[in-house]
Amino acid sequence: MSDNLKTPPQTLSEKDKRYCWHPMTQHKTEPIPPVIVSASGASLYDEQGNEILDMIASWWTCVHGHSHPELNKAMSDQAQNLEHVMFAGFSHPPAIKLAEKLAQKLPGELNRVFYSDNGSTANEIALKIAYQYWINKGEPQRTKFISFEKAYHGETVGAMSLGKGCGFFDDFEGLLFEVEKVPYVFTWEGDADIEEKEQNALNKIEETFKNNKGQVAALIVEPLMQGAGGLRFSRPEFMKAVTDMARAYGVLVIYDEVAVGFGRTGTLFACEKIGVVPDLICLSKGLTSGYLPMSVTVATDDVYDVFLNDDPDRAFLHSHSFTANPLACAVALRSLELFEENKILDKIKHIENRHKDFISNLKNQFSIFMPRVMGSIMAFNLADSDGAYKNDQGEFLREYFFKIGLNIRPIGNAIYLMPPFCITDEQMDRAYIGIFDGLALLKQKQAA
Ligand SMILES: Cc1ncc(COP(=O)(O)O)c(C=O)c1O
Repeated sequence: MSDNLKTPPQTLSEKDKRYCWHPMTQHKTEPIPPVIVSASGASLYDEQGNEILDMIASWWTCVHGHSHPELNKAMSDQAQNLEHVMFAGFSHPPAIKLAEKLAQKLPGELNRVFYSDNGSTANEIALKIAYQYWINKGEPQRTKFISFEKAYHGETVGAMSLGKGCGFFDDFEGLLFEVEKVPYVFTWEGDADIEEKEQNALNKIEETFKNNKGQVAALIVEPLMQGAGGLRFSRPEFMKAVTDMARAYGVLVIYDEVAVGFGRTGTLFACEKIGVVPDLICLSKGLTSGYLPMSVTVATDDVYDVFLNDDPDRAFLHSHSFTANPLACAVALRSLELFEENKILDKIKHIENRHKDFISNLKNQFSIFMPRVMGSIMAFNLADSDGAYKNDQGEFLREYFFKIGLNIRPIGNAIYLMPPFCITDEQMDRAYIGIFDGLALLKQKQAA
């Protein structure tokens, strides 16, 4: 019996150690995490009252800030009326109003909102819709999917298959289905031969479309940024060229905007910056501003229409118990209203300008690689390659940042900020100074 089973745990930390199983955590070696008891704006507070600035918006979910009074009110008002009702055979005002609002905000004919619970599931649903779309259309041989190298689309089996080779799922390879992988072109400030790299990649991608002509159901894309793959940006021109190519081969296009949706890249949705309307778009994280687990897979009217039939089996027969949870819908609706009321896109422009100033100063003082800024996202690498998810330098910095009250969690050797949009200039300065100091310490350590 392990020690922690002999003596009953007393403190919250001891109870956490005894009863909780955290994500992405090696419990044998990693320290006990701080217990966060409250939060406000960009700040988290632990049991001892220590402040931790949430510079990565709690895994990119929190867009308006923690414990936001307006969102708290939207959720508690909704709870007074209706906490949940099944969404098959019933509907309710928050789901209807949110679907209408999303359809108004999304470009083109992206008008049909299918609700689910998290980003992985939103992608899983897009995959199933695309697959069944071709069955319903009488082309059941279109069963293949194309995704980018190093893409990450989530943790369910379909989503893992789409993300095959990204480094997170090696143990599960045997469970995954085959996916056609195509090269992704990662870019950054001062990337001189980007056009040539993109052209080479496009040639290879076209080969894949040609070799699989008539067999591909859909292409799935993380538009403008591969997130978990290491904050790897791409140019809108490249995304547009790939999207157009898929269309030329009659392939459906799925945009996984789970990470980049809701203002992260500077426009409300990344597809707007690219200037295309995908057939399906997946949104989560910022949808409820990080309040509640909810996602949507939004289809164009054309895709939706293919499921209308007198035969009940041609419907999309997919469900989750918590589909369109009213509390989550009410918060998401209020969150979208706040984008307008508080001119959030202007605020993101301000964050982007500050990131740009910071990174040009940083470049002058440290040898950083692949500096890049887009909207509220700032990233750079510690080496001229991506590296693995866990990296000694990245871990050293993560521990240092934590010690000085910053939640900055490098992915491998990629250091990045993706703060909530309510972040103040003073809070951004604290993070910037923290990065300067952390890099200076790392340099000293390496020189020693
Ligand atoms: C692009 C992308 N897709 C899907 C997911 C999975 O979302 P979730 O963690 O909510 O399942 C993530 C999570 O980081 C993501 O970045």
